[in-house]
Amino acid sequence: MNFGFFKNFLAKGTLGIDMGTASIKVVELSKESGRFKLLNYGIFRLENQEEAVETKQKITKLPDQDIVWGIKELIARSGIKSKNVVASIPSFSTFSTVISLPYLSERDLAKAIPFEAKKYVPIPIDQVILDWSIINSTSDQTSGGQLGAGRITPTVDVFLAAVPKHETERYKKIMNAAGLNLAALELENIALIRSLIGNDLSPVAIVNIGGRSTSILVVNQGFERISHNYEIGGFEITRSIARSMGVGLSRAEEFKKTIGLKPEGTKVVSEAMTSLLDMMVFEAKKTITTFENAKGVKIQKIFLVGGVANMPSFLEYFKTKINMETVIGNPFARVVYPKELAKMIPELSPTFSIAAGLAMREV
Ligand SMILES: Nc1ncnc2c1ncn2[C@@H]1O[C@H](COP(=O)(O)OP(=O)(O)OP(=O)(O)O)[C@@H](O)[C@H]1O
Ligand SMILES: [Mg+2]
Repeated sequence: MNFGFFKNFLAKGTLGIDMGTASIKVVELSKESGRFKLLNYGIFRLENQEEAVETKQKITKLPDQDIVWGIKELIARSGIKSKNVVASIPSFSTFSTVISLPYLSERDLAKAIPFEAKKYVPIPIDQVILDWSIINSTSDQTSGGQLGAGRITPTVDVFLAAVPKHETERYKKIMNAAGLNLAALELENIALIRSLIGNDLSPVAIVNIGGRSTSILVVNQGFERISHNYEIGGFEITRSIARSMGVGLSRAEEFKKTIGLKPEGTKVVSEAMTSLLDMMVFEAKKTITTFENAKGVKIQKIFLVGGVANMPSFLEYFKTKINMETVIGNPFARVVYPKELAKMIPELSPTFSIAAGLAMREV
């Protein structure tokens, strides 16, 4: 296990903590005269995950006491002072969707939503915490609310999210045990939208490729519209390289990070990955096309994030295959940071996108 951070022992702000399967990421931000300032960041790599992959153990849940220990080490070593945490809950343990309801006042919606949610949420509604926000309503375009013959019945689109109560309890306990206070728990995708898109209303997609899984989400007018999650990520890529080249996982991991898809690199490395990478591109394209066809809206740009986005020449490969404008997401675009960090920001960006978005949340 190892760490990366820079020390700032003076200031205080909000902590965003992203507990991934490959690593735990922390970003500490403060807000000064309307601008976010980066106070600190840190990463705690969970290296034993590679072995877990090799033996096909279930790697979704690291023992909670290990997570607590990891967070405490990170906080102590990087000199983080803030106590208030916004943590993310991975997409695979939450549920979210967009539903359409008849136009109602916000108060009536608050009453109607738990009933509607029962139809969509796969676990009993008394075992989840529901959260929702109005995306838009067709009544925005109608005047006066009087409906004449032939007028469209006004509806509201509501983004609905459900988090299992036992998960929120678990996160609270983890943070308390680490000496922190869980101020809010948030869906990964919401944090990504906040850090990468901000107030931009144009239709875009975000592809997050982590260790264990990949998620693709389509965002329009600042809200998630559809998302898709599947279990292929950096670990699987490493395994494939190891198999093709007949080397161990740590060697394969090194090849992935140093050679990756570099055109001048060893062909065996890139060839070992292509079917997995092409599957990722295919899935991303499918989700985007589904949305475009259903809504008649064209996606303008794709943001790539997650550790795998750092792979040499991956951006160029993805962009060419998907044939759309693609960039590496930058969660620090609107953040003030010490100028010594400027050189490192491009490399940090994909990994810290969720943690930064969490720390940007108002608590
Ligand atoms: N420079 C690099 N080149 C290629 N792969 C990289 C690079 N840096 C990190 N990775 C890979 O990215 C993965 C980790 O990404 P990330 O930190 O986003 O995962 P995570 O959030 O912990 O996992 P998950 O979201 O799936 O739970 C690992 O498989 C790692 O090998
Ligand atoms: Mg992740």
